[in-house]
Amino acid sequence: MPDQGLIPVLFCLLAMWRILTPVSSHPQYSPCKLVQKAALCNNGNLSSVPERLPGNLEELQLNYNQIKTLHDVSFLRYPSLITITLACNGLEKVQSNVFRDSQLLENLNLANNNINIGFEETSLALRTLPSLRFLDLSENKLTDEMASTLLQNVSSLEYLNLSGNLLQRLDETSFRDLHNLKDLDLQRNIMFEIDSAFGSNPKLQRLNLAFNYLPCLTDFHMTQLVVLNASYNFIEWFISRQDLNDTFQLETLDLSNNRLFFFPFLPTRSKLQNLYLSHNILRFYEHLADNRTLQNATTSVEFYNLKKHIKNVTAQLWGDDLHGDVSSLDTLDLRRNRVDYFPDGFIQKMPTLSRLWMATNCLETLNFSTEQFSSNLYELDISNNKLSQVSANDGSLSMLGNLTYVNLSRNNLKELPFGLFSSLPRIHSVDLSYNNIGICLTDERKINTRSITECLQWNNIDSLRQLHLRGCNLEAVPNSAFTGLSLTHLELSDNPRIDVQDSLQCLSRTLQHLGLGNTQTRDIDLSHFQSLKSLNLSRNSLYHLPKSLYQIDLKVLDVRDNRLSTIPFGEARTLASKLQTIFLSGNAFNCCQTEWFKIFESAKTINMVAVSDIECQDILQTTHRVQDSERFYCLEAGESILWYILLLLPICLFLTGISIVTFLTYKPKLLQTSIKKKYLKPTSY
Ligand SMILES: *[C@@H]1O[C@H](CO)[C@@H](O)[C@H](O)[C@H]1NC(C)=O
Ligand SMILES: *[C@@H]1O[C@H](CO)[C@@H](O)[C@H](O)[C@H]1NC(C)=O
Ligand SMILES: *[C@@H]1O[C@H](CO)[C@@H](O)[C@H](O)[C@H]1NC(C)=O
Ligand SMILES: *[C@@H]1O[C@H](CO)[C@@H](O)[C@H](O)[C@H]1NC(C)=O
Ligand SMILES: *[C@@H]1O[C@H](CO)[C@@H](O)[C@H](O)[C@H]1NC(C)=O
Ligand SMILES: *[C@@H]1O[C@H](CO)[C@@H](O)[C@H](O)[C@H]1NC(C)=O
Ligand SMILES: *[C@@H]1O[C@H](CO)[C@@H](O)[C@H](O)[C@H]1NC(C)=O
Ligand SMILES: *[C@@H]1O[C@H](CO)[C@@H](O)[C@H](O)[C@H]1NC(C)=O
Ligand SMILES: *[C@@H]1O[C@H](CO)[C@@H](O)[C@H](O)[C@H]1NC(C)=O
Ligand SMILES: *[C@@H]1O[C@H](CO)[C@@H](O)[C@H](O)[C@H]1NC(C)=O
Ligand SMILES: *[C@@H]1O[C@H](CO)[C@@H](O)[C@H](O)[C@H]1NC(C)=O
Ligand SMILES: *[C@@H]1O[C@H](CO)[C@@H](O)[C@H](O)[C@H]1NC(C)=O
Repeated sequence: MPDQGLIPVLFCLLAMWRILTPVSSHPQYSPCKLVQKAALCNNGNLSSVPERLPGNLEELQLNYNQIKTLHDVSFLRYPSLITITLACNGLEKVQSNVFRDSQLLENLNLANNNINIGFEETSLALRTLPSLRFLDLSENKLTDEMASTLLQNVSSLEYLNLSGNLLQRLDETSFRDLHNLKDLDLQRNIMFEIDSAFGSNPKLQRLNLAFNYLPCLTDFHMTQLVVLNASYNFIEWFISRQDLNDTFQLETLDLSNNRLFFFPFLPTRSKLQNLYLSHNILRFYEHLADNRTLQNATTSVEFYNLKKHIKNVTAQLWGDDLHGDVSSLDTLDLRRNRVDYFPDGFIQKMPTLSRLWMATNCLETLNFSTEQFSSNLYELDISNNKLSQVSANDGSLSMLGNLTYVNLSRNNLKELPFGLFSSLPRIHSVDLSYNNIGICLTDERKINTRSITECLQWNNIDSLRQLHLRGCNLEAVPNSAFTGLSLTHLELSDNPRIDVQDSLQCLSRTLQHLGLGNTQTRDIDLSHFQSLKSLNLSRNSLYHLPKSLYQIDLKVLDVRDNRLSTIPFGEARTLASKLQTIFLSGNAFNCCQTEWFKIFESAKTINMVAVSDIECQDILQTTHRVQDSERFYCLEAGESILWYILLLLPICLFLTGISIVTFLTYKPKLLQTSIKKKYLKPTSY
């Protein structure tokens, strides 16, 4: 049947095609769409360059076609071309004179082809392009030799993409003629060595070496480079040349996902702003610097390469001033390393640092007074460390006027400096989850004479919007705990003994997300929370959804792992009309009361997350997927199992009687023959 339906549709499409194509200015049939001086001929199944396009074309897009060869005459008719894109064609050969008349060509995209097959002829063709600035040769299975042949004499190039090829080794011949190169992408090759490769590229500013097999970057002296991305390699050492007096232009250095175990030996003068070092095994060794036992330990490292050149790169491994110039740093990403302390004066060396990401390290203490963070500090993430102590004096806190986001979750904190957050005028988001910091019961200020406190007072921190206090062993929360706050986001999950109901009411105007998972909440009145959009009540042994939920304009509701048995018809309708996302798995719903499911299912606007995990139980305690309602019978508790037994018993008795009579009548013979039949049957093997 559907086949028959297809014909008119195809016909219709064809008709539309006929109507639409003349719009593309040319009377003849053409798979191209003309937009001003550009012809878009992508996805056209073309096997050659279309011939009847306007002669003044400046851009020709031929991506995703089947053009295997570019012939000498292919672009003859289009001398004004500035851009040609031929990605994903299986292109193998480019004849040497094909661009002879395309002297204006600046951009050539040959990505994802088979240039490796005809690379020699292609290289002759590229040499005839005096204005070529952008060349994309990514994904072409090119080896070192092929690439250096292709790039001979293409000296006008400014942007070159060689990502996704088979380059292994770069040396001084690789990019010898590319004197104007500014941007070079070498991602996703199989490079293991770079030896004096960029000496002829004095204008190179952006270099991407990500996803290769480089074991080290030593003797780094590309002072003009602005962005270096060497993430996802196997780099153990990054050492820049220390004897250069020039200022390195480097602004962004990405060494994340490598094997660094020393902080990189950065240039002594640079403009470095963003330093990404996450996912290494880096730590600091200053504590060893004046250790007698290490005095005789090596202080220099030697690096050998394939040509047996020995680079005597000396690095003062154990000194206390080996970090180079970090004075312009804005973002320092040290996530997932092994840092257990900051060397003396380390943070102080970064007077403009605004983001410090330290999640998942081994820091044990943090002293705001000694570290002297920059007054620009905006984001501080020291989550998932081993912090047991954070100290600060008033002076050091008053320096943190820009601090907006603080994440200290998953540490061993039991106390914090008194008034830590109330003295931060711009604090917006605080995460103290999984520590042992309570909420003060009384006004500690009056009784506390120490500078350290085991509980915090949150009232009247005007700027605070997000507060995360998951798993803090919170119990009693005073009614005034959150007064004077305009929180939009409050996370109190995993505090099984918390008693919070009354203290929340003062947040009813502003709160948008409330997390009360695993808090033994039984019922909660949220009817005044008119801004609440997202509520988490998972793992709470709820038997019913709180009535007040139907009155507010909730978008996301998580009630997983509770004891809900049904959602009454009317309420389900109300929810279905408002909710966008609901989590319901982990409840034992009643298989006989699943109208709510049909309502949610038919409401197209609501997403039931993990819908196939939502289960119900029948009266025999058998579990079914609510989704499969046609596959199970509903045994209502009201109908009682007795009825079924009463109904079935006579039938069973009757059938049993008949069977016995039959059996006795035909008995042993029947039995014997059936056994015989069974065992005498020839086997199939
Ligand atoms: C593409 O063109 C080839 C011939 O050049 C033809 O065999 C093939 O069926 C075409 N494919 C499509 C999807 O039109
Ligand atoms: C490259 O250009 C130089 C002069 O600029 C020329 O001498 C040399 O022959 C050219 N090489 C190739 C392979 O075309
Ligand atoms: C280089 O090409 C690859 C693959 O075609 C692409 O993912 C990457 O973004 C390109 N690089 C640049 C800098 O455009
Ligand atoms: C470095 O390259 C990787 C891989 O392409 C990318 O994920 C990362 O964002 C890049 N780093 C920077 C700083 O752009
Ligand atoms: C760098 O400057 C120092 C003194 O400022 C000088 O002794 C040294 O020779 C200079 N090095 C270079 C490579 O210019
Ligand atoms: C010196 O190093 C040894 C072994 O690494 C260590 O046990 C000792 O505590 C260190 N001494 C000092 C003063 O850091
Ligand atoms: C260091 O070397 C000197 C002489 O080379 C030797 O006298 C001294 O005992 C060594 N120290 C250690 C701790 O090995
Ligand atoms: C490297 O430097 C060390 C000490 O400075 C020296 O002993 C060694 O001979 C040097 N090696 C080479 C290859 O120059
Ligand atoms: C923090 O540093 C300051 C100044 O260096 C010092 O006076 C104070 O004792 C330190 N606090 C702790 C708890 O170590
Ligand atoms: C704090 O850090 C933890 C662990 O790194 C992370 O899971 C959590 O989302 C962060 N909190 C906030 C508010 O970003
Ligand atoms: C916040 O940072 C700006 C620079 O971005 C600085 O001028 C200002 O003094 C800082 N504010 C405070 C309160 O420290
Ligand atoms: C709700 O809280 C639980 C337990 O704290 C958590 O596992 C779950 O991811 C939260 N739900 C949502 C939707 O974030």
